[in-house]
Amino acid sequence: MQLPSHGANYKTLYQRFQIPIPEKVYDLSENVNAFGFPQKVKDAWPQFIHHISTYPHPEAEPLRTMLAKKLNVQRENLIIGNGAAELLTFFAGRFTNRQVIIVHPTFSEYKSTLEAQGAKIIEYVAHEITTYKLPMNQIKKSMHDASCLYLCNPNNPTGSLISKDIIEELLIYGREVGCELLVDEAFMDWTDESESVISLIKQYSNLSVMRSMTKMYGIAGIRLGYLVSSENVINQLREKLPHWHVNALAIEIGRLCLEDDKFRKESIENHQSLKRNLENYLHKQQCIITKSVANFLCFQLKESQKTRDFYFYCLRNGVVLRHTENFVGMDGKWLRIGIKSEKAIEKFQQVMDEWYGK
Ligand SMILES: Cc1ncc(COP(=O)(O)O)c(C=O)c1O
Repeated sequence: MQLPSHGANYKTLYQRFQIPIPEKVYDLSENVNAFGFPQKVKDAWPQFIHHISTYPHPEAEPLRTMLAKKLNVQRENLIIGNGAAELLTFFAGRFTNRQVIIVHPTFSEYKSTLEAQGAKIIEYVAHEITTYKLPMNQIKKSMHDASCLYLCNPNNPTGSLISKDIIEELLIYGREVGCELLVDEAFMDWTDESESVISLIKQYSNLSVMRSMTKMYGIAGIRLGYLVSSENVINQLREKLPHWHVNALAIEIGRLCLEDDKFRKESIENHQSLKRNLENYLHKQQCIITKSVANFLCFQLKESQKTRDFYFYCLRNGVVLRHTENFVGMDGKWLRIGIKSEKAIEKFQQVMDEWYGK
C-alpha cells in the first residue's frame, strides 16, 4: 500500500492503515520547531484580533521592509508569500515547457509544482546520500539546455549542507550558459547562516533564494515564506499572485518572530544537544546517519530491508517517522526523524530498543 507523500497529519496515516491510534502519539515525521512559536506571539495575540476584519497590506508591509533591512537587500528584491509553498507554485509557473534540473533525494514539492506547470524535469541523484554530494559534471552539462536548477540547502530530507563555494561555482556557470538557480533555504535558519547565498543576490541576477518562516518559528498553520531575487523575477511573480495573498495575522506574527533572535538562538542550542544525543544513540545501533545541520536527520537501519517493518512497528507504538519511499535515491531504505522534545526522542529510543529486543 502506498504511503502518504508528506509528513505531518498523522491521524490520517493511522486511519489509512487501520492502525488503532495509541493513547499518546509522538509525531517525529515533520520538521517544525519542537518548542513551538515564540512566547511573544502568545502574549501579543489579543492585540492581533482586530486584524481579522481588515484587508491586509497588499505587499505585506511593514514586514517586507523590515525583512529587506534585516537581509540587507532592497525591498524590490523581496516578495513575501503565504508560505514558501505558495511561492514555489508561482515560481514554477515561469518554466512551462522549459527544462528544470532537480537533484534527488530532495523536497518532493519541486517536482510536483513543476509538473503541474508543465515544466520538463531533468532528474539526477546525488553521488552520496549522507552528504548530498552533487553530480556537478552532469548538472553543468544539463545547464546548457535548462532554464533553472533547483537546490535545497540544507537539503530536505537529508539535512546536509551544500557549501556556498559550490553554489557560487554553479551560479557563475549558469550565468555563462543562461541557467538560473533557485536555492531553497527553508532550513537555513537552523545554521549560523554562513552558507546562505542571500548576500550574493546583488552579484548574480540568475539567483533566487527561497526562505520559509514556518519551520524555525513554529508557525506552519499561519503560513509565511519569502523569496529574494532580481527585481524582474519579483515583478513576474507579483503579476501572477492573488491580491492580499499574505494574511494580516501572518504579517504581524512574522514581525514579532523576526525581532525575537533570542528564540532562534535558544531553539538552535536546544535542538543541537538533542540531535547530538540522538546521533550517538543511532551510531550505537549501527545505523548510517546523514550529515545534517538542520532540525532533522535521516538514518538507515543496519538491516535496511526491514525499514518498512520498523516504520510500522514505530507507528503501532506511538512514534511517527517519515518514510522515504517517495524520495528518489533513498527508495524507502531510510527514515527521517525530526528533532522533537526530549520525551519524544526518548520514546523513539525506547521503541527502537524494544524492536531490537533489548
Ligand atoms: C525544503 C522545503 N521548502 C519549502 C517548504 C514549504 O514551507 P512553507 O511551510 O513555508 O510553505 C518546505 C516544507 O516542508 C520544505 O521542506
